[in-house]
Amino acid sequence: MNQTDQSHTRNATVIVGMQFGDEGKGKLVDYLSEKYDIVVRYQGGANAGHTICFEDKTVVLHLIPSGIFHRNCTCVIGNGVVIDPDELLKEIETVRKLGYEVEDRLYISHNAHLIMPYHKFLDSASEESKGDQKIGTTGRGIGPSYMDKFARKGIRIVDLLRPNVLGEKLRANLAYKNSVITKIYEKEQLDVEQIVTHYTDFDRTIDQFVKNTQCYLNEQLRAGKSVLLEGAQGSLLDVDHGTYPFVTSSNPTSGGACTGSGIAPTHIGSVIGVCKAYMTRVGNGPFPTELKDETGAKLGKIGHEFGATTGRPRRCGWLDLVALKYSLAVNGVTELAITKLDVLDTFDEVKICTAYQLDGKSPKDFPTDVETLEAAKPVYKTFEGWKTSNVNAKSFEEMHPNAQKYLAYLEEELGVPIKCISVGPKRDQTIFR
Ligand code: GTP
Repeated sequence: MNQTDQSHTRNATVIVGMQFGDEGKGKLVDYLSEKYDIVVRYQGGANAGHTICFEDKTVVLHLIPSGIFHRNCTCVIGNGVVIDPDELLKEIETVRKLGYEVEDRLYISHNAHLIMPYHKFLDSASEESKGDQKIGTTGRGIGPSYMDKFARKGIRIVDLLRPNVLGEKLRANLAYKNSVITKIYEKEQLDVEQIVTHYTDFDRTIDQFVKNTQCYLNEQLRAGKSVLLEGAQGSLLDVDHGTYPFVTSSNPTSGGACTGSGIAPTHIGSVIGVCKAYMTRVGNGPFPTELKDETGAKLGKIGHEFGATTGRPRRCGWLDLVALKYSLAVNGVTELAITKLDVLDTFDEVKICTAYQLDGKSPKDFPTDVETLEAAKPVYKTFEGWKTSNVNAKSFEEMHPNAQKYLAYLEEELGVPIKCISVGPKRDQTIFR
């Protein structure tokens, strides 16, 4: 095969969250990883928490791709991810302790940016200063690290190779940042030498994992290998397409999978949208279907809606089709996975928001500006609950008819096949169609 033929293998699949994150992507990536040669994380940092349940173990991964618990799978942390060295080392240790080797199975992009001590400091300090306008960041330095990346002041993995260059870049960065830290926040200056020592020690440990992953991934795809691209957070938190400014600092949408990995768009064969059967949001920002009542509290309680990374309670509400249609469009979703359907098992009735009412009109498109979205009133369609567990159903046809009706309505309205239904956190609590 020549180069051109090979560049269209379309063996790459993107998994992307359809809502505000926490859709259960970790479980799906873990499940599907078995079928893929390589799994790649393409954006975000240790603010994501992908929960995986297998062999009676529950593990939360923040940086390492969720495919690591499949021994034949190679895992790549792509150039679009921002890496906190301490978090990464902790996670490598966790994976090893569970009996999984990472040597020759984990690669880190040499172009990935690092979270520096000043990023964490500035993240928390700037969030604190926002009063009741807080974005709801995790204080892990993710936003400030991306700010430096786009301001072309970032420190990348490749910079760790040369401590003298690293020192120069840090000195340039700290000249300004230390003045902010001391003058505005009245805290002690950060010491360049200490940071250089800490990060070069880190480099010695991770050196074996560092690779030009952009070239590696495209080569592997051309050689016929399959790649699963794992997004963190969700489409409505995308810095370009989400509910700005209540968003994350990266692009979780499928386009971000290409920029965050270096994989050419022509290799992407399918995009799997992961969507919770209801809706949650962590932190501030508009959420038209939020239920600030007993029903919302019940969803949160049954769904254990507390952040995997921060432990913060998530806001809960009914599924929102207006938002979902928008997410499908911007991601080019080819199939859907509906997760946490079991959380609705005990409800007498279940609702889906089919439209918004805004000043007596019903807007066709999802408004992404905060003010309009906050004024939007949801219009609901009500479904009779199924009041039973579907956990023993081996197929869609074996599910309770009311659960089938709920899913069939979604499929019909969205025009995208629902290929996977998750009815519990475990690997085997999944129905494929
Ligand atoms: P982010 O990238 O941080 O957005 O995370 P995520 O999309 O991987 O989701 P996360 O793991 O934070 O949250 C999903 C939670 O739901 C985890 O605790 C999972 O174990 C759990 N979970 C996943 N699928 C199901 C399901 O079908 N039913 C139930 N009850 N729990 C599920």
